[in-house]
Amino acid sequence: MANPRNPNHSLFSLLLLFPFFVLSSSLYSPQDNHLVACGSTSVPALADHRRFFPDSSCHLHSSGATFAVSDPSRDSPPLHRTARVFSKPSSYEFRVKEKGTHLIRLHFYPFSTSDFNLSSASFHVAAYGISLLSNFATSVPVLKEFLIPVDAEKLVVSFFPAEKSSFAFVNAIEVVSAPGDLIGHTASLVKPDQVEIFNGLSRQSFETIYRINIGGPKVTPFNDSLWRTWVPDTEGLGFVKLDSSASKTVSFSGRISYRKYGASREVAPDNVYSTARVSDSDHNMTWVFPVSLGYRYLVRMHFCDFASVTLNQLYFNIYVNGYLAYKNFDLSDATGQLLASPFYIDFVADVGSSGLLTIGIGPSKLSNPSWVPGLLNGLEIMKMNNTFGNLDEQVPLVLTMEDPAFRGIGEFVRSILCGFAFTSLLVVVFILALRLRAELRNTLGWSPLPTDVPGSKLAKGYTVASGMLDF
Ligand SMILES: *[C@@H]1O[C@H](CO)[C@@H](O)[C@H](O)[C@H]1NC(C)=O
Ligand SMILES: *[C@@H]1O[C@H](CO)[C@@H](O)[C@H](O)[C@H]1NC(C)=O
Ligand SMILES: *[C@@H]1O[C@H](CO)[C@@H](O)[C@H](O)[C@H]1NC(C)=O
Repeated sequence: MANPRNPNHSLFSLLLLFPFFVLSSSLYSPQDNHLVACGSTSVPALADHRRFFPDSSCHLHSSGATFAVSDPSRDSPPLHRTARVFSKPSSYEFRVKEKGTHLIRLHFYPFSTSDFNLSSASFHVAAYGISLLSNFATSVPVLKEFLIPVDAEKLVVSFFPAEKSSFAFVNAIEVVSAPGDLIGHTASLVKPDQVEIFNGLSRQSFETIYRINIGGPKVTPFNDSLWRTWVPDTEGLGFVKLDSSASKTVSFSGRISYRKYGASREVAPDNVYSTARVSDSDHNMTWVFPVSLGYRYLVRMHFCDFASVTLNQLYFNIYVNGYLAYKNFDLSDATGQLLASPFYIDFVADVGSSGLLTIGIGPSKLSNPSWVPGLLNGLEIMKMNNTFGNLDEQVPLVLTMEDPAFRGIGEFVRSILCGFAFTSLLVVVFILALRLRAELRNTLGWSPLPTDVPGSKLAKGYTVASGMLDF
């Protein structure tokens, strides 16, 4: 941005940038930024100033009819006034200019028209060959967010109606490149008796389950560098805070000191780091989160110590699922001896049969009665893909020939065919290709599992919906 060796230049750049700081904290400009208002004919005006374009300008493939529908009541938020309904498997194809992790946000706002009641839709969603949602249905507004590491020139997002009579829908789609520092390479894997290094974090896919501005107000996409929504840690948002009497909220109006190689403004914005919850006593602060079984979770904890009077007067323990994940954590040491400087820690945790993930901040023996006993500014809980690479697998992802997602495989086979000059080779490859197709036909195809509990999706959707909506 600015040349640090030329102070005049830096000052000039700062002056130039100043109005943008005031308007919005979104200085990050993603290489890929596909914002789609499905079924819309106009560009809706949003509070965060982003421009979502009608999906008529997208590559949309469908094996059946699709319908652009709009909410007859017309008092819903701009992005939720229209939707695209799919009667058969359908896909949007997005060009990827920059490989790496992409944020995919899917907006579902189930209104009702004379032809379609969107809350009766039940469907599956896949992206980049990963099952994101299966047997998904919702009667309340839901925003689903996924982080997918993309290593291809295009990203296909597909919708599959769950039954022949049913249909799928979506109101808006965001496909946005994530900044390189959003997901690091390693995390701390918390086990009952020890903490190990978890490698390959940046190769995992994630679904955001909870994103909380601990001790602070709701942060909307307008005030977030990556257009995220952070909910407050108040009651009624699907999780529980224990011992709330043993803590208090604090806020900071000074300048947050972002450091090079530290947590950046894209990792979490000022609004998250400038509010916190601190313990009031030598009790634990504990939050309990219901999550689905069968997956690992990434727990990202955000810290910024503006509450201590001086450096090295804040020591606390961090517990994940009741296990000691970090003993005597010293935030001053972590930030290279700076106060009001952000820092985050990534933990990976398994979930027991309870289906609950608990996060605790507890007193350290190194602390002193006159010091702050513990602090937390922000918390994100992300579901990680299972060993099959999927994020929701109540229904195995199986594709048939006419499914648009299959076309990618067909193209791949064709491109191999073109590469060979000799007829004999062609024949061999063709036979192999036919075999591959036959095998795929046998192994791929949607088939619901009998274990699926009706309505379970609704409950899950509600948990996220109440917090993650951007209106
Ligand atoms: C953005 O943040 C500022 C400062 O915290 C707040 O006053 C304002 O209401 C927020 N704006 C929106 C649209 O959320
Ligand atoms: C805090 O929670 C941990 C884990 O559940 C427990 O071992 C510890 O004793 C608790 N500390 C206090 C002060 O209650
Ligand atoms: C997620 O998927 C990747 C790639 O398919 C795989 O290597 C990784 O082990 C999976 N993660 C988990 C936690 O199973």
